[in-house]
Amino acid sequence: MEGSAAEPVFESVADTGLHDRFRALREELATQVIGQAELVERLLVALLADGHLLVEGAPGLAKTTAVKALAMRVDANFQRVQFTPDLLPSDLTGTDIWRQQEARFEFQPGPLFHNLLLADEINRAPAKVQSALLEAMGERQVTVGGRTYALPQLFLVMATQNPIEQEGTYPLPEAQLDRFLMHVRVGYPEAAAESRILRLVREQARSASHAPPVPPVRLTQAEVFAARMAVLDLHFAPELERYLVELVLASRDARPYDAVLARRIAWGASPRGSIALERCARARAWLAGRDYVMPEDIHAIAADVLRHRVLPSYEATAEGWDGGRLVAELLTRVPLP
Ligand SMILES: Nc1ncnc2c1ncn2[C@@H]1O[C@H](COP(=O)(O)OP(=O)(O)OP(=O)(O)O)[C@@H](O)[C@H]1O
Ligand SMILES: [Mg+2]
Repeated sequence: MEGSAAEPVFESVADTGLHDRFRALREELATQVIGQAELVERLLVALLADGHLLVEGAPGLAKTTAVKALAMRVDANFQRVQFTPDLLPSDLTGTDIWRQQEARFEFQPGPLFHNLLLADEINRAPAKVQSALLEAMGERQVTVGGRTYALPQLFLVMATQNPIEQEGTYPLPEAQLDRFLMHVRVGYPEAAAESRILRLVREQARSASHAPPVPPVRLTQAEVFAARMAVLDLHFAPELERYLVELVLASRDARPYDAVLARRIAWGASPRGSIALERCARARAWLAGRDYVMPEDIHAIAADVLRHRVLPSYEATAEGWDGGRLVAELLTRVPLP
C-alpha cells in the first residue's frame, strides 16, 4: 500500500477548502468534548457517511454534550428525546391534530423531523417506540394516518444506551441494530483530560450569565453534502475492497481461519455491514486528509461498524464473548492486504 507518510493530495482547491472546514470543526469540537477524540471522530464519520450512531457509555461521559456541540456548528436543527416507558410512537413521529377553524386534520410533525436527533436512553422505551425510530432511520420516512412524510435530507440519529441498570429496560431488537451505522463505546477520560474538563466547566459556569458564544465554525448543509460527495470520490484500491469483503465474509463463516472462532459466531454481518464499513473507512480517510483509503482506515473502524452486527453464539455469550471481541479476533485472523 501507499506509504502513510504521504502528504494529503486533493483533486481541487475547492476540496481542500472543504476539508479545512471539517478540520476546523473537529478541532473546535475537541475543545468542547475533551478527551473523547474517538467519539468526536465517529460523529463526524456518521455525518459524512450519512448514517446513525448508537453510543453506549456510562452516565456523564459527554454523550449529550458531543451531539449538542455538533448541532451548534452545523446549520441544522436539533432535538433531544428522553426515551421513557410511557413514550408513544406518535411522540416521535407526530400526529394529525384537529384544526377547529379549518374543520380538518393537520399533521403536526414530531421530533423525528429534525436534522440531528438525540435519542437518549433508547432502551428505556418499549419495542413499539424503538421500532418507530428504527423504521424511520431505515426508511427515512414516516407514515402517519395513512400518509407518508419524507424526513429531512440531513438526518442523523444518535441514540444512547446506558450499559448499567439493565433492570426495567427493553433491549433493542438485534435484527434492527443493523440500522445503526456504528455502535460506539465511550470510556472514561484519562486523568489529564478529567482536569481539563473541570477547567472547561468552570469557565462555562462563569460565562453562563452572558449569551452563549457564537461558535467560530458553522458548516452549511450544502458543505456537508459536498463533503459526502468528496468521500465517495476517494480512491478505494481493489485489493482493499477484497480485504473488506473477506473480513465481512469471515464474520459469516470463519472456518477458513479458525474453526473454534467460527463456532463462537451465531450471526455475521449483512451486506449492509459491508456498505457501512466501506463508507466509514472512506469518511475516516477523508477526515485524515487523504484522497485514498488505507488498510488502517478499515482496521481502525471495523469494531465500531461490526460489533452490533456480529452475534456470539449462546455458548460464547455465556463465556463472556460479545460482538466487539469477536470482531477484534477476526481482525487478527484475516490478513491485511
Ligand atoms: N469529555 C468531556 N468534555 C467536556 N465536558 C464534559 C466531558 N465529560 C463530561 N463533561 C461534562 O459533564 C457533564 C455531563 O455530560 P453529558 O450531559 O454530556 O453526559 P451524558 O454522557 O450525556 O450523560 P447521561 O448518560 O447521563 O445523559 C456536562 O456538564 C459536561 O459538560
Ligand atoms: Mg445525556
